[in-house]
Formats: sequence, structure tokens, C-alpha cells
Amino acid sequence: MSLIRGHFEKDADKLAREYSESISFDWRLYSYDIAGSQAHARMLSRTGIISNAEGELIIKGLSQIKEEITQCRSTFKPELEDIHMNIEARLGEIIGTAAGKLHTARSRNDQVALDMRLYTKDAIEKTLAALRELRAALLDVAEAHREVVLPGYTHLQPAQPVLLSHHLLAYFEMLGRDAARFKDGLSRTDVMPLGSGALAGVTYAIDRESVARELGFAAVSRNSLDAVSDRDFVIEYEAAAALTMMHLSRLSEEVVLWSSAEFGYIILDDAYATGSSIMPQKKNADVAELARGKTGRVYGRLLAMLTTMKGLPLSYNRDLQEDKEGLFDAVDTLLKTLSVYPGLLRTMKVDREKMAQALERGYILATDLADYLAKKGLPFREAHAAVGRLTAFALKEHKGLLELSLDEYHRFSPLFDADVLQLNVAAALSARNVPGGTAPDQVNRALTEARQVLGE
Ligand code: ARG
Repeated sequence: MSLIRGHFEKDADKLAREYSESISFDWRLYSYDIAGSQAHARMLSRTGIISNAEGELIIKGLSQIKEEITQCRSTFKPELEDIHMNIEARLGEIIGTAAGKLHTARSRNDQVALDMRLYTKDAIEKTLAALRELRAALLDVAEAHREVVLPGYTHLQPAQPVLLSHHLLAYFEMLGRDAARFKDGLSRTDVMPLGSGALAGVTYAIDRESVARELGFAAVSRNSLDAVSDRDFVIEYEAAAALTMMHLSRLSEEVVLWSSAEFGYIILDDAYATGSSIMPQKKNADVAELARGKTGRVYGRLLAMLTTMKGLPLSYNRDLQEDKEGLFDAVDTLLKTLSVYPGLLRTMKVDREKMAQALERGYILATDLADYLAKKGLPFREAHAAVGRLTAFALKEHKGLLELSLDEYHRFSPLFDADVLQLNVAAALSARNVPGGTAPDQVNRALTEARQVLGE
């Protein structure tokens, strides 16, 4: 018979029971559940609510259960609903009646809130470490290709030359903001809910602070109703994960584009590429495509949880059980995506020749020509129009901008002097010497700063 159906006249319907169980997925909380129960039992015996002997028995029994689960020697029972009841029932088998004292001054409502917070805190730590690894990989690749130049794009049209390191550091920045979001979320996750009971607090003289300390929490929750029904920290993790996946999806889109025959800027290592089952010539960027695809899945987890929460009256409602699969999946998906990327980046080859070819003929320096005229006093709008006409002329003549003679330049503005012929990609890069710009000096400084940031 179930531990919690003493007042019922019959067992639960089989389908209803199957519908309600969560052990098939919340078993993953077992180590947090046991750590929480042990801290709770220690506090109960410290405060004299249970005897020392009972406390010790419970703590030892729980350690044995942890061992059994870790070594896959236990079978969970779906009729016991969830991980909390499965562990408690097993404890009864091992230590007998003293097991019944563990749940004194506690409810599954504050227990599951505790487990989820412990799990999420761990997930945040792992996420921060994985983000750091990926940023280190981006930085390594950026440092190894300091001289490489490629077209920067707007509207996916070649716009102005940029350093490859500058381009990679853009992702370094995005992932840095992501890390800051996870860290920020941690401060609100790091709150200990035990002691809230089912919803209103408990009737025993418990010591919440010591439980929080033992479990490594920075604070105890201030309102019991809120504590058992708050899942903001789940949503915040999922929101930060969705944003991070969006960044990884943009990176992935560029990996797909750049490794295509049309761009050819990068060559993926065989270890990170997939062949086609029908077309022998193909080398596909499946890892990047999957990262792009899995982004939708993580967005979905966020939306699902926001929707689950929106109509819930205070305090605990069983709907909250729906928090788990979504969070577990968001964490798994994000961590796997973050972990596969450093290797992909570190092993890919950069084809600097292909990038250089894409810069040839100089149309990408059109802005620099307009700036040239503007610096000689022509209003920028007029300079823009003159260089527009010049570019149209060069295209018609099948010439690059750098292949025009001074006479040809003069047809479009008398302000062009011989020094215009010295304009090239290197000069265009160096000219963008503002903080945050792509001039080599600026990028070298940014690389050094990025190193320091990672070192912290
Ligand atoms: N499996 C439940 C959950 O995930 C545990 C809490 C059950 N509480 C309750 N009052 N039925 O939310």
C-alpha cells in the first residue's frame, strides 16, 4: 500500500497512476534528494526533534540508498510515484520504523523545490564551465589567426574588410553576456526552501539557517507560499539557455555557410563532418546544423514552462511537476552543444586564400573611398554618391576599384589625388582605429583583454 493513501478506500486507477508518475524522469534528482534529506535529518536530531540514534540510522540508510542507485542496483517503483517516495519507501525497508521520522517538519512540496534548486545550481556551474571552455577555444583560434582578413557582411553582402579575430571575438562577447546571465540567475536560485512545509511553514522549532549552510545555500526563502510554488529559477535558466542557444545557432549558421563550396572559408575536420549516404562528394556540417536545429527545442522548453506557470493559483499545484523534463532537456541540450563546439573550432582549417580572394577587386573598399573624399571636405552624402557612380562605372568596365587609373578616378571627383592609389585592405583595416574597431592594434588589445577576462 502507498505511504500516502491511508485515508482512501481503493488504490489508484492504473492509467491514472501511470499518468501521474514522475519517477521515470525525476530519478535524476536522487543525489540532491538524498543530500537534502540527510541535511534535514541532521538538523532534526540536532534540534532534538528526533533522537540522535534515529538521525544516524536515517543518514546511514540514505547513504546506502545513494550507493544502490549510483551502482544501478535499485529498481524504482512507478506505483510510488516519484523519487521522493521511492527513496523514503526504500529507507523503510532498510532501517524500519525510524524511516517514518524523516518526513517530520517537511512536505514533498518544499522537498521537491529544494531538489530542483540544488539541481539547477549544479547545472549553472556546469554551464559556466562549458561556456568558459568554448570562449577559450574561440580565443585560441582568434589568436592563431591574427593576420587573417575576410569580408565583413551586412545583409549577407560583402560590406567592409574585418579581421577574422575580430569576427570570432564577437562571439566571445555574446557568450560572455550569456555567462553573466547565468551568474545573475544563480543569485536567485541560491535560496533554500526547506521549512516551508506544504505551504504555510511547519509547526516544529527547526533551524533553517543551519540546513541552508550545510547544503551550501546563500540564503533561506522568506515566504513559504512563494517558496513551494516559485519556479522562476527554472524559467530563468531556460531563458538564459534559449539566448545562449540563439548565439550558438548564429555561429552554426556561419559554420554551415563558411564550410560550403560557395564560401570555402573554413574546412571542417573529418571528425566533425558527416558524409552523405548517396552523394560521395559531400562533407556536411551536421554538428552545426543540429546545434541550429536544437535551438528551437530549447526555445520550446522555455515557452512550455512559462505557459505551465501562468494560471497557477498559490501555492503548490501538481502542474509544477511539468518543470522537470523541460529543464533537464534544456540543460542536456545546452551542455552538449557547448561541449561539442570547442573541438569543432580548434580542428577546423581556415582557408585564408579563399577569404583573400573574396576581398579582391576592392569593391569592399567603397566606404573608404567615400571617407577619402569626405576627409577632403566633400559632404559625406555627396562623397557617397560620387563613389556610387564610380563603382557602377568600374562594374560596367569589368574592373575592380583598385584597378582604376587616377584619370578614371578624376572623372568622378576632382578631389582624388595620387595617394588614392595607395588604398588597400590593410590600410582600410588600420584606419578603423577606434575602441571596438577592427584595426589590428585594437583587435590585439581586445585579444589581450579577452585573455585577462578568461583568466579571472
Ligand atoms: N513529483 C512531485 C513534483 O514533481 C513532487 C511533489 C508532490 N507534491 C504533491 N503535493 N503531490 O512536483
